[in-house]
Amino acid sequence: MTAAGRVIVFGSLNADITFEVHRLPQAGETVVAGGVRRASGGKGGNQAYAAARTSTRPVLMAGAVGDDEAGVSLRDDLSTAGVDIGLVRVVEGVSGMAMIAVDEEGHNVIVVAPGANHVWPEVPALPLEADDVVVLQLEVPLDVAAQVARQAVARGARVVLNAAPVTPGADGLLADVDVLVVNEVEATDLLGLSTIDVEAVAAAARERALAVVVTLGSDGALVADAEGRMTRVPSFPADAVDTVGAGDAFVGAFAAALAGGADLVAAARRGAAAGSLTVTVRGARHPRLHPLLVDDLLDSQPDPPGRTMS
Ligand code: RIB
Repeated sequence: MTAAGRVIVFGSLNADITFEVHRLPQAGETVVAGGVRRASGGKGGNQAYAAARTSTRPVLMAGAVGDDEAGVSLRDDLSTAGVDIGLVRVVEGVSGMAMIAVDEEGHNVIVVAPGANHVWPEVPALPLEADDVVVLQLEVPLDVAAQVARQAVARGARVVLNAAPVTPGADGLLADVDVLVVNEVEATDLLGLSTIDVEAVAAAARERALAVVVTLGSDGALVADAEGRMTRVPSFPADAVDTVGAGDAFVGAFAAALAGGADLVAAARRGAAAGSLTVTVRGARHPRLHPLLVDDLLDSQPDPPGRTMS
């Protein structure tokens, strides 16, 4: 247990436009959407939202939006959710934007236009403290994320990297990371794993001396501490309608739990609960996410027996 700290999310804010389609189009094909939704998103914004809405920890968002209408909504929506947006810069130009297509089975494709997320004439000096948990993703330039990670290390803050989307050179960040959170595709790309299993993830964590969490969707998550001790954390039963943002909800809730003093496995269980709740609604942010909703779900499935594997 460490003292309780804040969650500082440094990363992306996107205006999401989601097309609900019967099936995802193939290259060269046009499909007609049955509906379209606009909402605030971006992996960073979604993670800050989940951190604030699953905990009582102070949550700060650091990022950039454009001086357009989307930039106003992106900030307002986070502020309404209880996130401190004082570190969100407004830059000239357009906010980040994501075009998302979701089919009837909940599968999705996402295309992101970074906009303001890539406008960093200089990296801000963040007001970090030793008890803080800094959360990074890779929808901002890699060198900017790397400098923020170095600032965190210099202040003694912990760094959680959600290496999404995997970016060439991202492995260069790992020396400054305490916990890496990746899905199976990202684990394969970033860690060079040909199979995602207990032995492979344990070895990857040991070799790099960092904790690794591999999220497996409805199969839960594999959690390795920096010595390679493994725990499988199950997911929670959920009627999934849309998996967009589920990984972000996991990361946000996970980071908030770490900031509150939870250990790696307890934090991952909270992350899994937030992810399971998020897939039950359309959109990347569960509108009724609340610490008590997460608590109830966790209570409904007490600590599973025999979960630690090595
Ligand atoms: O992880 C989901 C998010 O990815 C969406 O909100 C979209 O903005 C993209 O960044």
